[in-house]
Amino acid sequence: MRRCAQSLPPALTDNGTEMNEIKPGQSTELLQELHILTRDGKMNQDSRRKLKQVNHLCQFIEPLLEEIRADPARQEGIRLVDHGAGKSYLGFILYDFFFKGHADEAAGSHIYGIETRAELVEKSRELAARLGFAGMTFLNLSVEQSIASDQLPARVDIVTALHACNTATDDAIRFALARQARFIVLVPCCQAEVAAALRRNKDRVLASPLAEIWRHPLHTREFGSHVTNVLRCLQLEAHGYQVSVTELVGWEHSMKNELIIARYQDLPRRRPAERLRELLQLLGLEELGARFFAGAQELPPAPVQCQP
Ligand SMILES: C[S@@+](CC[C@H](N)C(=O)[O-])C[C@H]1O[C@@H](n2cnc3c(N)ncnc32)[C@H](O)[C@@H]1O
Repeated sequence: MRRCAQSLPPALTDNGTEMNEIKPGQSTELLQELHILTRDGKMNQDSRRKLKQVNHLCQFIEPLLEEIRADPARQEGIRLVDHGAGKSYLGFILYDFFFKGHADEAAGSHIYGIETRAELVEKSRELAARLGFAGMTFLNLSVEQSIASDQLPARVDIVTALHACNTATDDAIRFALARQARFIVLVPCCQAEVAAALRRNKDRVLASPLAEIWRHPLHTREFGSHVTNVLRCLQLEAHGYQVSVTELVGWEHSMKNELIIARYQDLPRRRPAERLRELLQLLGLEELGARFFAGAQELPPAPVQCQP
C-alpha cells in the first residue's frame, strides 16, 4: 500500500498487538477522526476488528484500482460507489490510501458513499470537508433509490458493499448491473428474505430428501444465508461476471466474513442463468425469481418442459 504523509508515533508502534492492525504509513490522524483510535492512541476490540476488516478489504481493492488505472483506453478518473457506507470507514481509508494526491484525483476520481442514516451522511460530509478530501460525496439515499439517482455517474468502476444490511447487498448488485460496474466487491450481512421463503415453502418441497438440509429452524436460517450468497454469485455470473468467493478475515474476527468479488468479463451467461432458475425451483424459491433475475436483459427463457 502507498504510504501516507503521516507516520506512526513511536508510542503506538511499541504498543503490542493492537497496533498490528495499523498498516505501515496509515494515517493515524484519519483513524482518530474516524474514532477508530482515541486521541491517546488506544483502540478498543470493536474498532480493532473493524480496522482489520477494512484494511483487508483495501488490500483486495488495491489491485483492482491498479488494473483500472493501467487501462490505456481510460480517460476519466475512477468512480467507486460504497453502499451502506455507515460511518464510511471504508470510503475514507480507501481515499486516504489510494485516491488522495493521486494523478487522477484531479481528473475526477471519486468515491460516493450511499447511506440511509442522515446523521451519518452529515458527519461524513463534515469530515471529508475538514480533511480536504474533495473527491468524496455522501448521499442520503437507500441503495434502492440510488439505482435511479442522477446524482451518481451513469457508469461506475467499482461497487462495494461491506456488511450492507439484509437486502441492501442485493440492491447493490442491481445498482452495479445498472451502472455497468467493472468490479463488484461484497461482504454480505445477514439476509432474511431467502430463509423466510424457505420457511414458507418448506411443506411444498418436504418430499425431497434435500429438504432435510433446512428442515430445522436453525438450519433454515444458516442454509438460507448460504443459499443467498450462492444465488447472488449465479446472478452475477448470469450477467457475464467472473466471480470469486473467499473469506475476508479469520472467522474469529467476524461471522459475516464471506467476500465476493465479481469482475466483468463478458462470459457466457446461459448456463449460470439456467442453474439459477433450476436452483430456485429445486428449493421452492420461485417467488424470489424477480430478486435474483433483477437487471437481466439477455437471460434465456425458462426451459421448455419435455412431455413424457
Ligand atoms: C452494518 S452497517 C455497515 C457500515 C459500513 N459499511 C461498515 O462496514 O462499517 C450497515 C449500514 O448500512 C446502512 N443501510 C442499511 N440498509 C440500507 C439501505 N437499504 N440503503 C442504504 N444504507 C443502508 C445502515 O444504516 C448502516 O449504516
